[in-house]
Amino acid sequence: LPCARARTEGETVPVDSCALVHPAPSAAAALRIGLLGLGQVGAAVAARVPALAPGGRRLTIAAALVRDPASRQRPEGIPIVTRIDDVFARRPDVIVEVLGGVEPARTLVLEAIARRIPIVTANKSLLAHCGDELLAAARLAGVPLRCEASVVAGLPFLSSIARRHAFRSSLVSFSGIVNGTTNFVLSRMEGTGADYDAALDEARRRGFAEPDPTSDVQGIDALEKLVVLLRHLVPASVDPRAIEVDGIVAVTADDLRRARGLGGTIKPVVHAAWGAGGLEAFAGPAFVPREHPLARLEGVTNGVALRDRSGHSLLFAGPGAGPDVTAATILDDVAAALDAVTERPVEAERREASHGRVAAPATGWLITLDGSRPLPSGPEVADLLGSCGVWIERAVYERGDTAGPASFLTYACSRDRVQAAMRAIEAAACCRASAWRALRGDA
Ligand code: HSE
Repeated sequence: LPCARARTEGETVPVDSCALVHPAPSAAAALRIGLLGLGQVGAAVAARVPALAPGGRRLTIAAALVRDPASRQRPEGIPIVTRIDDVFARRPDVIVEVLGGVEPARTLVLEAIARRIPIVTANKSLLAHCGDELLAAARLAGVPLRCEASVVAGLPFLSSIARRHAFRSSLVSFSGIVNGTTNFVLSRMEGTGADYDAALDEARRRGFAEPDPTSDVQGIDALEKLVVLLRHLVPASVDPRAIEVDGIVAVTADDLRRARGLGGTIKPVVHAAWGAGGLEAFAGPAFVPREHPLARLEGVTNGVALRDRSGHSLLFAGPGAGPDVTAATILDDVAAALDAVTERPVEAERREASHGRVAAPATGWLITLDGSRPLPSGPEVADLLGSCGVWIERAVYERGDTAGPASFLTYACSRDRVQAAMRAIEAAACCRASAWRALRGDA
């Protein structure tokens, strides 16, 4: 692939060793950010910029692109524009994309890459749905594309792992809590006995939940972050539509109480495991035993527990969202992207992401039974589950005998088997049966 600058005329080099072709900013000039989006995160980036001086250089916002200039409070001294050409006309050294969503972000980022402008994005939807396309374009152009703030935004996580090739190669699985809103909601439901609506209202009042939290509570936000994690940690390129996803809407305070009775809690997790048998992953609420590293992450805290093939586990935990921590991480990415432009060749991904299939794993399950009519007895439930190939590992009967409300932890089995078992139980007795995946204690 041709590398047009810093080479003698006509000479070509492979892209992996290609010095950047974007013009290096001059020593005297301020470094200019083209900011795409001026929502909460964009405004937090703008507010921090005058204070930041990577490598002793001044950093300015060349222009901020918004859809509707009337709907925004304009940060002082920042040119607001509504056309991408007006951003490019101000010759930005780096583009920071915080629009969210796939379009127009995808088109604008591709235009910037075509102009060989480094990209920093916090947009997990964009990366989950168009990551292959954008990374291929960036690599072809020899342009850095950095996305540290797209998942667990307050932690220096993705780039730390990406640099540690030997460590990353030893990994076999991870489990994470990557959505603060839903971790807050389930933590409040467990801690106070509040129902789902009351806990979500509190999250809204305290500014933790978006005005429209649909993507959070349906698991979509976590699913998109899972796809970003798979690319960095496996590395695998996976279509988000191929991954099992569940929301937290159906989790009740009673389910959480029963999970506690079985020695754990229910958390909004993402999980993946890989090896010779292929890649397995899911996103959704899951029973997490008390000894699991994620069990102690409360409220809006995020975390990712990595496990290597020797069974060692490592937990990264901290704030996963919020305009201030996200803006700080974005500006570190800006500094790293500009550093790459001025000092180093583009750090290319040596291990290509595989384009594999992803399967739903066989896991244990937490099954809860509820209802006002007489429930099947414990032995009857065990027979029904067993007839579907689902075997009970542990049971709690709330009235002390084997009749009445009960909850069970099962041995690992497929979702299909559990769903068949749920149908069998609900047909045999007028009760509500719920099933949540269960993680093991060792991550
Ligand atoms: N809505 C997201 C969360 C914001 O609650 O974690 C950060 O992506």
